[in-house]
Amino acid sequence: MRDLRNSAVGIDDIAVAVPKLFVSTLGEFARERGIEAEKLSRGIGVKKMAVPDAHQDAATLAATSTLELMEKNDLRPQEVGRIYIGTESGVDEAKAIGTYVVGMLEQVYGPGSFSECSTVEFKSACIGATHALENVACWLKMGEDEDGSSGRRRGIVGIVVATDVARYEMKTPGEYTQGAGSVALLVDKDPRILALDPVMGVYTRDVNDFFRPIGMRCAVVNGKYSNHCYLTAMEGAFSSFQRRALSRGMIRLAEGECVTDHLQHIIFHIPYPRMAEYAAASLFRLEWRGLPRWREVEEEIGPEPEASDFSDEKVRLSTEYNRRFSRSAQFLEAYEKKVKPSTMASSIVGNIYTGSIYLGLASLLEEGRLTHETRLGLGSYGSGCSASFFSGLVGEGVGSLPKGRLLKQLDDRVEIGLEDYQLLHDGKRRESVVPPSGEFALMDIDKDGYRRYEFVS
Ligand code: CAA
Repeated sequence: MRDLRNSAVGIDDIAVAVPKLFVSTLGEFARERGIEAEKLSRGIGVKKMAVPDAHQDAATLAATSTLELMEKNDLRPQEVGRIYIGTESGVDEAKAIGTYVVGMLEQVYGPGSFSECSTVEFKSACIGATHALENVACWLKMGEDEDGSSGRRRGIVGIVVATDVARYEMKTPGEYTQGAGSVALLVDKDPRILALDPVMGVYTRDVNDFFRPIGMRCAVVNGKYSNHCYLTAMEGAFSSFQRRALSRGMIRLAEGECVTDHLQHIIFHIPYPRMAEYAAASLFRLEWRGLPRWREVEEEIGPEPEASDFSDEKVRLSTEYNRRFSRSAQFLEAYEKKVKPSTMASSIVGNIYTGSIYLGLASLLEEGRLTHETRLGLGSYGSGCSASFFSGLVGEGVGSLPKGRLLKQLDDRVEIGLEDYQLLHDGKRRESVVPPSGEFALMDIDKDGYRRYEFVS
């Protein structure tokens, strides 16, 4: 077996599947809910929310993105050793969603064609797909492809699929952050998009910011508290990454530099685009404090409140200071350059939970913003809660990947009114608004609860 421990492994290609329906947050929705459109477009950062049609669920979206990934890379089933799926919208309490996905793919590739591909469902709220990616990357590094199995034109690869339907109760503050979609990642050696670095900073705690007890269609969320948990966990994971990256010599700092200076883009989990801005403010503030540039920030926005006292009053002052910081010239320049570009697709899709961070990567790819050999930072967050901060180097082949597919897919969607949106949200519309074509569809659920899917050409 060839030793692959020193070869690069990571994300070689991406395919995205989003529902064909959307609701605009800016017209009828904002008027009906009595919310200023500006609050949704700027305060939250969401202009359109993707809405799954009657024939769609997390499994159909996953199978559709995986099929596109396989077709555009001309992959055969026997070349795919793992399909690991991150989701918090599983369609069954026991059966892995990946077995439904394999069943759907075999309708295209033939019965039994994926019998040597293993699949497992990773549930850890919005960080599930990141754990799946870490696992598939480690499996690939073990070098299992050198066993001489027949029928392969290339080494064996893995696929990670993030798939979710984000659903909150109607007329709650969570409602305007809903969305749905799936992102499939091709994980391979010498990847074209992102070769993963060997360092991952992590943070875990037991909190009740967001959860969905068994049997409930909508998440239970403590909104503002969830923002706070996200920021605390992200700071914890980043500090862990920072320590490890510096001690290994993976990043070397010159005088007056900090770790984020070495990351060309930072892609955060994006429950709504504004959250990525809060996360950026919190990490830049953490890193810049103590550097010469902090003097300029303080000259513009005043001195930072003492951090040693955690009374409610101090937390309030610190939050207000973060707001002032996020309007400072230095922050805005760094945010616009390093973070904002990754929020492009999320602002017109909404939250897709575990796929949101990888939709951010797809946004950068779509807009041609990835440069060979530059380093990206990724901050993943899953409620409950856990966070990971990791990084990777952009591959040489990134320029050869076609662009424009994602934007075309998003442009081709159909806007629906509030009546259809409500029926679909509550699971009360049986007929599809746009009949399925060129995609997998849920045909029925039998009396035992088994789901029957079909590819509709
Ligand atoms: N124009 C511009 N901005 C406006 C405005 C206007 N007319 N009116 C209000 N705003 C601004 C507010 O000032 C605020 O910005 P600042 O923080 O800078 O002050 C922003 O809009 C948000 O408004 P609110 O503070 O009033 O917040 P909200 O009541 O709308 O709730 C939320 C926001 C808590 C995120 C809610 O949408 C929610 O509960 N979402 C679901 C949970 C969630 O996404 N949590 C994120 C962290 S957890 C996670 O990441 C996991 C996951 O995927 C769920």
